[in-house]
Amino acid sequence: MNVKRINSVLREIERRVSSGGYFPIIGPVKGELLYVFTLLAQPLRVLELGTGIGYSGLQIARALKPGARIVTVDEDKENADEAQANFRRAGVEELVTVIVDEAGRHLQIDNSLYDMIFMDIEKSRYLDLLEDCISRLRPNGILVADNVLWPELRRFRQTIMTHPQLTSSIIRIEDGVSLSVKKA
Ligand SMILES: C[S@@+](CC[C@H](N)C(=O)[O-])C[C@H]1O[C@@H](n2cnc3c(N)ncnc32)[C@H](O)[C@@H]1O
Repeated sequence: MNVKRINSVLREIERRVSSGGYFPIIGPVKGELLYVFTLLAQPLRVLELGTGIGYSGLQIARALKPGARIVTVDEDKENADEAQANFRRAGVEELVTVIVDEAGRHLQIDNSLYDMIFMDIEKSRYLDLLEDCISRLRPNGILVADNVLWPELRRFRQTIMTHPQLTSSIIRIEDGVSLSVKKA
């Protein structure tokens, strides 16, 4: 893996997004946190719900150990195609499988277990999909969710903080990121 090449695609996406071509990405501050979580967790298999144009996937990819893989799901084909192009330009296309599907539908057909799940889809779906995400996590696997300080995610926050299978923390950076570990 060529980390310089990945970083240069990340910087280019950041420039493009901040110079008016608005697309919601996790951004450099929370993106760095996602990178550090991935470094700490050392996942072999990662599931991302909400590929966007590939920015967060690249933050995860640059922390992966050899042999690790990402499956990333987005219901919007245009976004998924742009993400695929960004993964190719960053030289990580072999590590990432891009799937065009609705996240909930994908969780119904994908019975794999993951070491890490990153959730960044429409906020009304977070709570609906929480149980499926937990069931797809290995013991000690981590669930990271973006934007958790949004008012509409109040019940999601309460649920992850009190869920019997999770140990969670909410990191109050920007609009919030949660980190949950599935109890062994
Ligand atoms: C905020 S963007 C993702 C940004 C990306 N994670 C990043 O930080 O670079 C949200 C993406 O989720 C997709 N999405 C929203 N709801 C979805 C759903 N229910 N299933 C699959 N994809 C969904 C949208 O098409 C969009 O590309």
